[in-house]
Amino acid sequence: MNFSIKKICCIGAGYVGGPTMAVFANHCPNIKITVVDINQKRIQAWKSNDPAEFPIFEPQLDELVLNCRDKNLFFTTNLEKSISEADMIFISVNTPTKTKGVGAGKASDLKWVEASARQIAKFSNSHTIVVEKSTLPVKTAETIKKILSGSQENNSGKTEKSFSVLSNPEFLSEGNAINDLENPDRVLIGGDDEKAIDALSEIYSNWVPKNKILKTNIWSSELSKLTANAFLAQRISSINSISALCESTGADINQVKKAIGMDTRIGEKFLSAGPGFGGSCFQKDILNLVYLSSFYQLEEVANYWQGVIDINNWQKSRISRLVVNYLFGNVSEKKIAILGFAFKANTNDTRQSPSINICRDLLEEGAHLSIFDPKVENSKIKDDLQNDLNKIEVVQENGSWEIASSVLDAANGSDAIILLTEWDQFLNIEWNELIKLMRKPAWVFDTRSCIDFKSARKAGFNVWTIGNAPFFNE
Ligand code: NAD
Ligand code: UGA
Repeated sequence: MNFSIKKICCIGAGYVGGPTMAVFANHCPNIKITVVDINQKRIQAWKSNDPAEFPIFEPQLDELVLNCRDKNLFFTTNLEKSISEADMIFISVNTPTKTKGVGAGKASDLKWVEASARQIAKFSNSHTIVVEKSTLPVKTAETIKKILSGSQENNSGKTEKSFSVLSNPEFLSEGNAINDLENPDRVLIGGDDEKAIDALSEIYSNWVPKNKILKTNIWSSELSKLTANAFLAQRISSINSISALCESTGADINQVKKAIGMDTRIGEKFLSAGPGFGGSCFQKDILNLVYLSSFYQLEEVANYWQGVIDINNWQKSRISRLVVNYLFGNVSEKKIAILGFAFKANTNDTRQSPSINICRDLLEEGAHLSIFDPKVENSKIKDDLQNDLNKIEVVQENGSWEIASSVLDAANGSDAIILLTEWDQFLNIEWNELIKLMRKPAWVFDTRSCIDFKSARKAGFNVWTIGNAPFFNE
């Protein structure tokens, strides 16, 4: 029997579920797609008439959602209905690092995945293809299969239900999600049920060339996702480690980047030094790999990947330390402008953003921070800076922070500007104007090497850009 997919349910209306299903819906007008979430506020936001209120900022997403919503794309909190009518269900829920219990600090917390599997087991009616879209440790499909196989009757107890489980990890990167989904380097489908694999492959082939659809066994698929993220993150830790060496030796990180990137075996992408990688996944997925390696008693493998995280943490803290050092070893009661709070440009996501660590370090040193980000909500910044329960007291006692309404507002009266996210609007700052508002000596710390540093120097700033020796005007 071939499976004909008419109705899809996606559990999880987050950064993956929302954009992915919007792209599916646009390419598959004959499939009804329902995105379901337990978070009522999030679902309400997806239903808003004003796209600015969508829970996720992602270039080009608005038009895709508006084009299909209430035609073949629906957002709801009604899990039972969406699951029971679906032929195919994507599990696209969060899988953060566990904070307590066995594996705390390393293993992924699979409670939301397990809850989803139990809901599917409970509400589905006939044969259902269950697709792991979330990033999961190798062998999670086994757990899902066990949960599903415990329920072979439908709601009314009449027909027998059955399941095929596939792994179809998502490789989109935030800020570029729509382009990544429209033109993926590859689509990976892991599983052992060929008909189910064909059914999913058929959906993708509406817009993805067939030679880019890769079919593997389920464990290879799960492990490839973790490995891809680990390799990408490793490149960033590698270039970041070299950025520190450049600063000490007089080499220029951008020249080194170009020289090595022209080697076709290395390639030019993903070699930008920065304040350390952020985002919800790199750290979590590498920690997961470390945990998995230790579980299989491969300590050397675990230590190797742990090193990628260690360099990343070091990079974040070395930036806060050097800012303090250049400001005469003291930032207490000095105003510092923070430009950018998102973990990268073109997203409103702040999960694991290096800005959080760097701001917290400076607050502990007693600085007064004035934070401007064009897309991150003020409440998000507040949560991020105060959420670490152990640090609430410290932050309140020592430093303080406020939200600024613009670059000028943040810079007004400050001693230094720290650029942490490479938003386009920061690339063409009028340094001549800005310096007039600042206390002297005025510093700019560019952790993304993206500003017009020559203009900043000419305007009279002391300039530090990542991976370069500092430039002193005075
Ligand atoms: P997210 O936190 O933005 O969204 C997950 C959503 O799932 C939340 O809205 C949550 O309320 C909902 N949810 C949790 N349990 C539920 C349940 N039982 N029933 C219904 N809804 C439930 O997370 P995300 O960034 O979209 O990531 C989802 C998964 O995709 C993770 O495993 C992540 O590693 C992976 N991933 C993320 C990205 C990315 O760029 N964010 C890229 C590739 C893969
Ligand atoms: C990353 C991967 O790129 C996606 O393929 C993957 O699907 C996703 O993780 C995931 O599994 O969640 P994302 O975290 O959204 O995507 O964004 P990236 O562009 O990878 O950036 C991650 C971090 O690395 C950001 O903080 C970014 O500023 C930093 N980065 C990236 C650098 O410092 N230098 C670079 O050259 C590239």
